[in-house]
Amino acid sequence: MDKHSSLRDPFERSTNQRKGIRLLGGLMATAGAILATSILNAERGGAFAQQPEASDVRSGKALPQVNPDGWTSSAVCGECHQAIHAVWRQSLHANSWSNGVFQAALRRSRDNYGEERSRLCLSCHAPTVRHGNDYAVKESITMEGITCDFCHSIHAVELADPNDPIRFAVGKTKYGPLRHAQSPAHQIVNSDLFKRSEFCAGCHEYKNSHGITVLGTYGEWKNSSYAKRGTECQDCHMPLVAGRTVALDVKSDTSGKVNLHNISGSHDIERVRKAVTLDGVGYQWASDKVWVFMQVANTGSGHCFPTGLPMHRAVLEVKLLNAGEVVDQRQIPFEVVMLDESGRPLRREEEFFVSAAKVRSDTRLKPNEVRTVEISFRDIKASRLLMTASLYYEYSTGALVTDEKGERIEPVEMKFLLASREQSMKRMGR
Ligand code: HEC
Ligand code: HEC
Ligand code: HEC
Ligand code: HEC
Ligand code: HEC
Repeated sequence: MDKHSSLRDPFERSTNQRKGIRLLGGLMATAGAILATSILNAERGGAFAQQPEASDVRSGKALPQVNPDGWTSSAVCGECHQAIHAVWRQSLHANSWSNGVFQAALRRSRDNYGEERSRLCLSCHAPTVRHGNDYAVKESITMEGITCDFCHSIHAVELADPNDPIRFAVGKTKYGPLRHAQSPAHQIVNSDLFKRSEFCAGCHEYKNSHGITVLGTYGEWKNSSYAKRGTECQDCHMPLVAGRTVALDVKSDTSGKVNLHNISGSHDIERVRKAVTLDGVGYQWASDKVWVFMQVANTGSGHCFPTGLPMHRAVLEVKLLNAGEVVDQRQIPFEVVMLDESGRPLRREEEFFVSAAKVRSDTRLKPNEVRTVEISFRDIKASRLLMTASLYYEYSTGALVTDEKGERIEPVEMKFLLASREQSMKRMGR
């Protein structure tokens, strides 16, 4: 791949480039992609020959082609869609199979529930198994996780069929949001589905066999004012940023904007900080009783806060301090608690998918919800106190991550401060 293409004068090359692509567009239908590619390369070879300082490793080499009969690796897509590929590589989607937390959970699932039932996990985390049935994970495409070709082969999401909503067609055609786009490597079908939340719902909404909504992000969004106003998942999670849809030497006249493909969520803690506020702190103090109140609001998350699997939770920690010493404290959780059939609270990913049979409580903040939290403290002896309130975001797998041999053991626990407030207080009537 040519590392220097962005340093060259784009204008100088664009005329020849465009001619090549247009010619190609006409030919695609009749002559097929192989002939078209060689013509494109001849055109490009000519163009480069006139530029003594430019050496293009790609000239003379055939452009990569997509597999017409099966999946194509993201490495192939990335040869042309460089900018998108580089960003996608950083995403959790790209690591949905390989990440250690998932691997550990999958091992536990296979141990506790068996191989057959654990196929479910792969259908979302390594979704290319849906065609070709590589549940043994022998092929490298499976390990690419939620790869380019899986998403861009989706042509419909049928929510009326919740057990298997994703409809896709493997092969030469790539579906996407651009109108009138043409590619030398694949056919293109423009699809508005890519701009709508339904596209994501195929994996971000899941009800288990006990009827428990384990993943409800799409439904939470659907019931919110964001859905009514037409603010889709992509508007928040895939904003348009400057970038090229394809490398300059493949096509010069792209729009200059791409949808950010790292699709970050709570792993981007700055994003989480912007989504919630802690305000409206006040108190009342009468004899030895103190009431503290404040407002916690979900101002920027298009679904419940937190959303997704229940190991994501937020906690408001309120402390009363007298000369630096903690006099009393409370913790207010914002979380879903799920139980199995025998009433045992569940903590691990695989358990929610298979065993969750009851929701004991759901104290998460709904989209746009402003919740007034009121806490009372008794038996307060002091007459002056400092109250501190800290809102934390917590992530815990509630489990240990081990490697295949079970040698490396480390718990995955994370805690981030989102917001904090302080209030000095004194007893009335003194
Ligand atoms: C030989 C270069 C090349 C390769 C390889 C390639 N593409 Fe493309 N692709 C293009 C070009 C050129 C366009 C048109 C871009 C434009 O007009 O902005 C395009 C457009 C697209 C679009 C936009 C379609 C639309 O209507 O929104 C998608 C999606 C896409 N490609 C996906 C893929 C995927 C997935 C792969 C790998 C399986 C892939 N491409 C491999 C060159 C390539
Ligand atoms: C093929 C299934 C699939 C599709 C389609 C899909 N996702 Fe995901 N998504 C997942 C899985 C699985 C994970 C968890 C990956 C992991 O951490 O192992 C995930 C993780 C995420 C995260 C969490 C990232 C973080 O930093 O915490 C966000 C946000 C997200 N997806 C948004 C979207 C959006 C928006 C769409 C639609 C444009 C979408 N997803 C489409 C399966 C999917
Ligand atoms: C989780 C599903 C998902 C994955 C994985 C994914 N895409 Fe996309 N892609 C989308 C969606 C959704 C859009 C449209 C976003 C919009 O228009 O709001 C899109 C848009 C595009 C476009 C059109 C240009 C643009 O930025 O809008 C191209 C080209 C593209 N993707 C290529 C790729 C390639 C190449 C990869 C792998 C490196 C990839 N995509 C991985 C869902 C995905
Ligand atoms: C108004 C903007 C907005 C919209 C619309 C939106 N999100 Fe989010 N999303 C956020 C913010 C902010 C966060 C981080 C705070 C949080 O976790 O709620 C987030 C977090 C997430 C996470 C990470 C949770 C985790 O477990 O790590 C996922 C997954 C996700 N969103 C998926 C979606 C999907 C799917 C849709 C559409 C159905 C969607 N989002 C719509 C703003 C939005
Ligand atoms: C319907 C699609 C779907 C199925 C089926 C599914 N997952 Fe997931 N999984 C997701 C999504 C989406 C996320 C993203 C985070 C969220 O929303 O909380 C996720 C997140 C995870 C995570 C957290 C990863 C991280 O990086 O923090 C683990 C671990 C996990 N899943 C394990 C499993 C196991 C084990 C199974 C099978 C028992 C399974 N999943 C089945 C969609 C699925």
